[in-house]
Amino acid sequence: MDLGDPDLYLDPGRFARWRRYAADDAVLWSDAGTSPGGFWSVFSLAGCRAVLAPKAAFTSEYGMMIGFDRDHPDKAGGGMLVVADGPRHTRLRSVIMPFLSRAMAESLEDTVRQEVRQLVADAVAAGGLDVAASLGPVIPASVVCRLLGVPATDRDMLIELTSHAFGGADSSFDRMPPDAAHSEMILYLADLVAERRRSPGDDLISALAGDPRFDLREVLLNCDNVLVGGNETTRHAIAGCFHALATAAGTLDRLRTDPDLVGPLVEEVIRWTSPAMHVLRVATEDVELPGQRVASGEAVVAWLPAANRDPRHFAAADEFRPGRPANHLGFGYGPHHCLGAALARLELRALLLALAEFVDSVSVVGEPVPLRSNLVHGYRHLQVRLEPV
Ligand code: HEM
Repeated sequence: MDLGDPDLYLDPGRFARWRRYAADDAVLWSDAGTSPGGFWSVFSLAGCRAVLAPKAAFTSEYGMMIGFDRDHPDKAGGGMLVVADGPRHTRLRSVIMPFLSRAMAESLEDTVRQEVRQLVADAVAAGGLDVAASLGPVIPASVVCRLLGVPATDRDMLIELTSHAFGGADSSFDRMPPDAAHSEMILYLADLVAERRRSPGDDLISALAGDPRFDLREVLLNCDNVLVGGNETTRHAIAGCFHALATAAGTLDRLRTDPDLVGPLVEEVIRWTSPAMHVLRVATEDVELPGQRVASGEAVVAWLPAANRDPRHFAAADEFRPGRPANHLGFGYGPHHCLGAALARLELRALLLALAEFVDSVSVVGEPVPLRSNLVHGYRHLQVRLEPV
């Protein structure tokens, strides 16, 4: 079976399959198909950690998603944070970190809380909405635009472009081919970089553009990394938060009684939704995985939603149960652990607190429609009804 086939992830049976592979510590090979060179897959929490760990004999520099390996490398390798390793990775991470840090998240908390409260109040007044199409993408895009210094008036246009560039092989994104959307995004960012070079601000684009160690290509690649990393994952965690609440009636009542529950709830939303479906690495030497030798140069995919449903670590893993140990891999693991985790947590905290304030109960109307993608585990449509408190 080609585990890169996006159609596999439209099937609700994916959860049972992931659980089984994780329980068996399976290491499976997919022949050339969605990836020109084929790839290995690991699923268990321990298996994924072994591939992603700091000292593991694997690199991200050939690319971090299905399709790339040593013979088919990502051209961004070495220049973009998520596909750079060693000193190049450290240098980029140290410049970008302050803009995505916990301190930055704290400084944005009031603004984000206010914005999210308004969005939720409007959604309740409307009785409900398709959270995958409307509310989900707006919150992260607004946060990322603020960090990058993108004018608020361009926000919707950027949501449209990032969805088309990275939303997966889904027919709702067929108005523009991914490459065209991506090129347009880069051209837009190049104009912004030129403007910030003339007149710098206190934003991430100005910090990258004003650093003589980075050329224009690196500046653009890393703006792109933050824009896409911030938008294309969090929007599905936000939509999935509504889905989770609909499956676990009474959760908002518990949150109203005990606001400290918000932290564990956020972690469980990340585990349960697992919006980053896979990350890929390439072996830098021959490596032994359980029952399988991986040759130097071969690609290995870590399936994060499978690790997050590993039955040896998460009892009744399909159930949304706040208060589990926070050892999920939703934000990855090792040196590339998500740099935007504090911001994603902030957005989900703001959402849950606003829902507790305005919403008595959430129900899903009709069947959730998953995104057709092997990379982003998310929703194409999720229509919900919201009962006011
Ligand atoms: C890295 C998931 C939100 C920016 C990652 C990785 C994962 C991930 C799994 C590791 C990639 C790898 O190992 O190759 C998520 C999820 C999010 C989220 C599930 C939301 C629920 C964000 C946000 C931002 C962001 C809000 C920025 C505003 C980044 C960046 C990296 C990254 C820059 C690269 C870090 C590095 O390579 O050192 N994310 N992310 N992410 N994420 Fe996130």
